[in-house]
Amino acid sequence: MPIVLITGANRGIGLELARQYSADGWDVVAIVRESSPKLDLLDVRVEQLDLSDEDAVDSFPQKIEGELDLFIANAGTNHPMNTDGPGNARDWQRMMMINAIAPYQLGRALLSKMSESGKMAAISSGMGSIGENGGGWVPYRTSKAAMNMAWSCLALEAKACGVTCVLFSPGWVKTRMGGAGAEITAEESVGAMRQLIEKLTIGDTGKFLRRNGSVIPW
Ligand SMILES: NC(=O)c1ccc[n+]([C@@H]2O[C@H](COP(=O)([O-])OP(=O)(O)OC[C@H]3O[C@@H](n4cnc5c(N)ncnc54)[C@H](OP(=O)(O)O)[C@@H]3O)[C@@H](O)[C@H]2O)c1
Repeated sequence: MPIVLITGANRGIGLELARQYSADGWDVVAIVRESSPKLDLLDVRVEQLDLSDEDAVDSFPQKIEGELDLFIANAGTNHPMNTDGPGNARDWQRMMMINAIAPYQLGRALLSKMSESGKMAAISSGMGSIGENGGGWVPYRTSKAAMNMAWSCLALEAKACGVTCVLFSPGWVKTRMGGAGAEITAEESVGAMRQLIEKLTIGDTGKFLRRNGSVIPW
């Protein structure tokens, strides 16, 4: 059975990814800070990791044995929302670790564990696009733009191993982060991204994609 690793799998988009891949017969490794009753109902392996913990991120890949088919760097935070003062600056640094540095470090360390035609997907955001910058949300935008660049560098490195790396904007999704007024459900977002992941080839590596498959400007 193919194996997928998913961060932030206790709720929101990550939980839905775990649910759909598990339902399709994949072996799912759900990476979480803390499990949830909904995740506990799924037939998945749960591993604990706080992405803000630099040492834990560094040592985590050693726990993973066997060949991986797919790694989805999904976990993310939108805190802080403001930029003023030292408290926000500290939270902003932590956000950079969670949203950009940890996903890259995990992806890079897991490269050697990927199957020959393995795939890696990072859940970024349209808010990480400088070309489509609408202003505001400065910490979140910078963290996702940093994720985009780091993952783009990872894609160049991964190409030599035959591993395809892409970034997704999942759309505006009804989760704790997206809010109840968002446009689509996690089920719709994940269903669309899974279809794209299935069809990805090495020719797609390094792309930043909407869930309909169109390319987003950097
Ligand atoms: N919802 C949207 O409209 C939308 C739009 C664009 C992009 N995205 C992106 O989609 C991804 C999933 O978001 P979501 O909408 O599903 O949001 P969510 O419901 O708020 O889920 C966020 C997930 O990230 C995890 N996480 C946060 N901080 C973490 C840390 N320090 N260590 C490990 N895990 C951590 C959370 O775990 P805890 O329960 O432990 O906090 C949770 O599992 C994120 O990268 C987000 O930026 C979402």
